[in-house]
Amino acid sequence: MTSSQPIDNGVARRIVVGVTGASGAAYAVRVIELLAERGVEVHVACSNLGKRLLAEEAGIARIDADALSGGRGDRLVMHPGNDVGAACASGSFRHDGMVVVPASSNTLAKIAHGISDNLVQRAAQVTLKERRPLVIAHRESPIGLTEIEAMRKVTEAGAIVAPLSPGLYLQPESVSDLVDFMAGRILDLLGVDHQLPIRWDEHLAAARGKSDRDDSSSR
Ligand SMILES: Cc1cc2nc3c(=O)[nH]c(=O)nc-3n(C[C@H](O)[C@H](O)[C@H](O)COP(=O)(O)O)c2cc1C
Repeated sequence: MTSSQPIDNGVARRIVVGVTGASGAAYAVRVIELLAERGVEVHVACSNLGKRLLAEEAGIARIDADALSGGRGDRLVMHPGNDVGAACASGSFRHDGMVVVPASSNTLAKIAHGISDNLVQRAAQVTLKERRPLVIAHRESPIGLTEIEAMRKVTEAGAIVAPLSPGLYLQPESVSDLVDFMAGRILDLLGVDHQLPIRWDEHLAAARGKSDRDDSSSR
């Protein structure tokens, strides 16, 4: 199975989300919210700096399931970020994929080198060794050779690096449009269905429909 194929007839049942200390807490919150909305059981682990970024950028000072999921806390399982003995730290924990969002250069480098200092890193290592889908939504700019080499290593190990770099071709009107663009692409990579308006072909079809309507009304 490749990571972009639907899981279990299109229904992903269990996804691990790691949140680390890169800018972009809004992406984490939106991905968690969408997964919970889709009925996925979401296992969340935050690094220490991930918690700080959630507080500073998203105003989530107390990390709890409801705050992170827009009220769908019943779908979330929160794991202590430093507990490398948590359930999702074990290869025997069955899941359908993991995303690290946002992923700091620090966590990217640790995953690339097989270092597991916290639960996010450990769960990512285990996801790779068990050959499950791992999406690393990295955020840093510019990047240097260290990050490029780390990206090469994790890609060779089976991960997908998905830089948090939303396209502008759908003419976004707000920050939330940009966040949704990336959140939708991440769900695609995890094989989780969604209805976000992020598809170029649908955009073209809508534009064509509008131009046809404009033409007929001007006749
Ligand atoms: C406000 C703030 C913003 C940061 N933004 C980034 C970032 O966008 N990308 C990055 O790689 N590191 C960023 N860092 C640095 C990381 O948080 C730092 O390297 C930390 O060790 C990451 O730890 P973690 O990977 O365990 O979460 C930021 C730190 C702070 C305090």
